[in-house]
Amino acid sequence: MDYTKLGSTGLDVSRLCLGCMTYGIPDRGNHAWTLNEETSRPILRAAVEAGINFFDTANVYSDGTSEEIVGRALKDFTRRDEVVIATKVHGRMRPGPNGAGLSRKAIMAEIDASLSRLGTDYVDLYQIHRFDYDVPIEETLEALHDVVKAGKARYIGASSMFAWQFATMLHVSEANGWTRFATMQDYLNLLYREEEREMLPLCDAEGVGVIPWSPLARGRLTRDWDETTGRSQTDEFGKTLYAHTVEADRKVVETVATIAKERDVPRAQVALAWVLAKPEVSAPIIGASKTAHLDDAIAALELGLTDREIARLEEPYVPHAVVGFS
Ligand SMILES: NC(=O)c1ccc[n+]([C@@H]2O[C@H](COP(=O)([O-])OP(=O)(O)OC[C@H]3O[C@@H](n4cnc5c(N)ncnc54)[C@H](OP(=O)(O)O)[C@@H]3O)[C@@H](O)[C@H]2O)c1
Repeated sequence: MDYTKLGSTGLDVSRLCLGCMTYGIPDRGNHAWTLNEETSRPILRAAVEAGINFFDTANVYSDGTSEEIVGRALKDFTRRDEVVIATKVHGRMRPGPNGAGLSRKAIMAEIDASLSRLGTDYVDLYQIHRFDYDVPIEETLEALHDVVKAGKARYIGASSMFAWQFATMLHVSEANGWTRFATMQDYLNLLYREEEREMLPLCDAEGVGVIPWSPLARGRLTRDWDETTGRSQTDEFGKTLYAHTVEADRKVVETVATIAKERDVPRAQVALAWVLAKPEVSAPIIGASKTAHLDDAIAALELGLTDREIARLEEPYVPHAVVGFS
């Protein structure tokens, strides 16, 4: 396994972060395609054994059961000090007032609930899952700073939002001497490159580590355009990401297949190697519903695309409407 510093922090993370949205009780929350605990554990174990030390989950994944499954597995398969656990806050955890969002009250309640489900007294990276239009930025940032100062999180991060929102938040924390965001978890892959316009250059300029989600476009870059899987058929959020796919997307998928054939490797390796080649990226957050998916992700670290291959993969792309958070 390769390791890198997470953005401009001193924290060592594996160059692959295992996305744990895949692991959760299927009839809890909003992802019917998730794997139950028994099926999840061998994959989590294989990740630890392969040297992956970076795990991403969220309070909202499978109604908290992702955090529970991941917490138990990491406790059984590794030592707490050896792993970097990231979770998130913002999504709705219960109906009614204060059941979601980034108010001080919600953040203070949700960090404690996440720690309890994960079975740990701190997380390494506490991320805001989205921007909250209804809460003053100062309130959110001071609450996150207090979470860090209370020893409940080592670093803080943010996820998909407009670059102007993220820039404003970085500025406000700087002006107040509060803990700064160390990471941006945003949507980036060969089928969605809108973050190249503003967010990636911003993160580069600000020393923020980029940890992209769904780097394989939720599997669409790994198979033929018309092929489906159990997940793709029931992945309701995924369907919103690809509701307006264009002909150019099909060409991107075909180019991934062509280059994979030339290199005699599975397509997932080519698609992931493209994300890994981006200098702003600390670690893509990969999804693995089979242990073999981890093998391809690890092999992608060594693939090393040429400049010509990268140009061919990028050539068919056309600008897309913003998706994933707006
Ligand atoms: N911050 C956010 O808003 C946000 C949003 C989404 C995700 N995330 C994070 O990002 C993580 C990863 O998301 P993701 O699962 O969508 O990532 P992804 O890596 O784009 O997609 C994973 C899917 O691709 C397919 N796949 C992976 N490796 C493969 C291989 N070698 N060969 C063939 N197919 C392969 C599998 O699909 P099948 O299972 O269908 O076979 C797998 O479930 C999540 O777990 C979560 O931590 C964050």
